[in-house]
Amino acid sequence: KRILVLNGPNLNLLGTRNPAVYGTDTLADVERVASTAAEAHGLATRFVQSNSEGALIDAIHAAREDCVGIVINPGAYTHTSIAIRDALEAVAMPFVEIHVSNVYAREEFRHRSYLSGLASCVIAGAGIQGYGFAVERLAAIV
Ligand code: DQA
Repeated sequence: KRILVLNGPNLNLLGTRNPAVYGTDTLADVERVASTAAEAHGLATRFVQSNSEGALIDAIHAAREDCVGIVINPGAYTHTSIAIRDALEAVAMPFVEIHVSNVYAREEFRHRSYLSGLASCVIAGAGIQGYGFAVERLAAIV
C-alpha cells in the first residue's frame, strides 16, 4: 500500500521561511519523518510538493491509480481552494490534513479550512512531527 504525502505552496522553503512560526526543519526532514512512520506500518510513500494549485489537484487525481490515502499540507490553499476540496472529495480516499503551525493561534484568515470538513483527521501545531502523526493515523484507517 502506498500513501501520497502532498505539500503545497511555500513548503519548499521550510527551514528558512519564518522559522519563528515554522521552525528550522526542512522539507527533506519532513520526508524523513513521514517515510520513517510509513515504513513502520509497511506503507510506501510518494512525496509531491508544488506551488501550483493545478499541480496539486493533478497529484490528487493521480493518487487514485496507486495510493490508498493522502497526507496533505495545502499551505495557504487550505484557506482559499474549493478546487482542492473538490478534488479530494472526487477521489474519495481518506486524507489527513496537517499544518506545521497552530493555525488557530494565528491570523483569523487561517482559522477557516475548506478541507477540514472532509478530512479524517486534522493536525496543527505539532511542527513537522505532525507529519509522523498524520501517517500514523492514516495507517490506522487505510
Ligand atoms: C500552513 C499554515 C497555512 O496557513 C500557511 O499558509 C502555510 C503553512 C502550516 O503548515 O502551518 O503555508 O499550512
